[in-house]
Amino acid sequence: MHSVDATTERMIRSVLAYAENRLRLEPVPLDEGARDPAALDVVVAGLLGDDGHDPDQVLGAWASTLAPAVISADSPRFLGFIPAAPTKASLLFDMLISCASIQGISWLEAAGAIHAENQVLRLIADRAGLPGSAGGCFVSGGSAGNLSALVVAREVARRREGTLRPLRVAVGPEAHSSIINTLRILDLAPLTVRTDDHRLTGAALRATLEADGDPSSIAAVVATSGTTNAGIIDDLAGVGAVARELGAWFHVDGAYGGAGLFAPSVRSKYEGIENADSFVVDPHKWLFAPFDCAALLYREPQIARSVHKQDASYLDVIHGKPGEWNPTDYAYHLTRRARGLPLWFSLAVHGVRAYSEAIEAAIQLARRAAAEIRSRNYLELIREPELGVVLFRRLGWAPGQYTDWADRLLHDQVAFIPPSAWEGETVARFAFLHPQTPIDLVREVLDRMA
Ligand SMILES: Cc1ncc(COP(=O)(O)O)c(C=O)c1O
Repeated sequence: MHSVDATTERMIRSVLAYAENRLRLEPVPLDEGARDPAALDVVVAGLLGDDGHDPDQVLGAWASTLAPAVISADSPRFLGFIPAAPTKASLLFDMLISCASIQGISWLEAAGAIHAENQVLRLIADRAGLPGSAGGCFVSGGSAGNLSALVVAREVARRREGTLRPLRVAVGPEAHSSIINTLRILDLAPLTVRTDDHRLTGAALRATLEADGDPSSIAAVVATSGTTNAGIIDDLAGVGAVARELGAWFHVDGAYGGAGLFAPSVRSKYEGIENADSFVVDPHKWLFAPFDCAALLYREPQIARSVHKQDASYLDVIHGKPGEWNPTDYAYHLTRRARGLPLWFSLAVHGVRAYSEAIEAAIQLARRAAAEIRSRNYLELIREPELGVVLFRRLGWAPGQYTDWADRLLHDQVAFIPPSAWEGETVARFAFLHPQTPIDLVREVLDRMA
């Protein structure tokens, strides 16, 4: 299994040929294979037993049946949830990292990888206006980043309080489900701020706190810089100021929308992000990196280190030299792959300007889509898009009609655009991210609602 023999040689050729073909697809098709486990079982049954199989046979099972049963998140026709659009450079470098088993746990083991990852974290911190001391690490996703950051927030509040009394976290009505999950895991109760139009503002936060009987129990305030369902950027300046007055940790969840920091046309909407105590942005979303990759930054990383650093006698050696940066100390993980490196390589190859342009492309497409929607009398725009997400309704449609429409679009391989909900109503939602999604595709999707 570990030697380079004739089978290894054959496997290298077959797997790399498959990878090459996949990389050359332009555009990447959506795919919609079998979803019935019985149909998938036909190719996998018996593959995992005491004896091995010919690698081409196993690869064949993957290529013929399993791979097509994965809807391609990187297709420009993937317009649901939050898509992905990794650059070719990032995909290639991801493969290199896998082939070389590059990990990024400690400086002792992986200084080169960590140095490059930190260069990317610095770039993001600079865009956000965080101080030179800011730092952190890459984790698997926004959920992992939010959890790791709020663990630190809770610990800071506990240290300040000196007791284990119940603590709470103030969140906006559109806070991501991973924030709510995190609060449950950490035994922190949410204080949901009531807002007029789903956007968390400093004024709304202040009003909720004033009406609340126990504001001093608020350990943290979470704002979102790009809500998932509607792309709303909270009032970061106002919310951050109230958090500071309160002495609470200020966390900004930019898992989806944080990438907009690189888009000049919307950068001003992020004003106040520079005051965040912690900030998360997912490069596997809108910074065109492969799964799975989230950048987690702390304003004062030494606080995070005091919470997350794992102590074990066999680990003393990695903590021996002051000044050495160990990504493992800044989140709840220990072992980690150097998942920031595909972004580092791609940024270095293409330059930041290309990223800004690609992010702007989705924002502009959302604006054009909104104009298309406004021009059709059978459609209604629910709110002006701020980023790349567009919510709209088909007048007169019942929920089942949205599902039928979405099913037909996927069946015909036109688009993957599952319905969403807004204020309890089933609605349609574009999530634009891929810079090559054409406006003609948008028109076709809308035509099919007429
Ligand atoms: C605003 C926001 N926060 C957090 C998450 C969770 O990120 P992940 O899916 O990478 O764990 C998402 C995912 O869509 C998100 O949009």
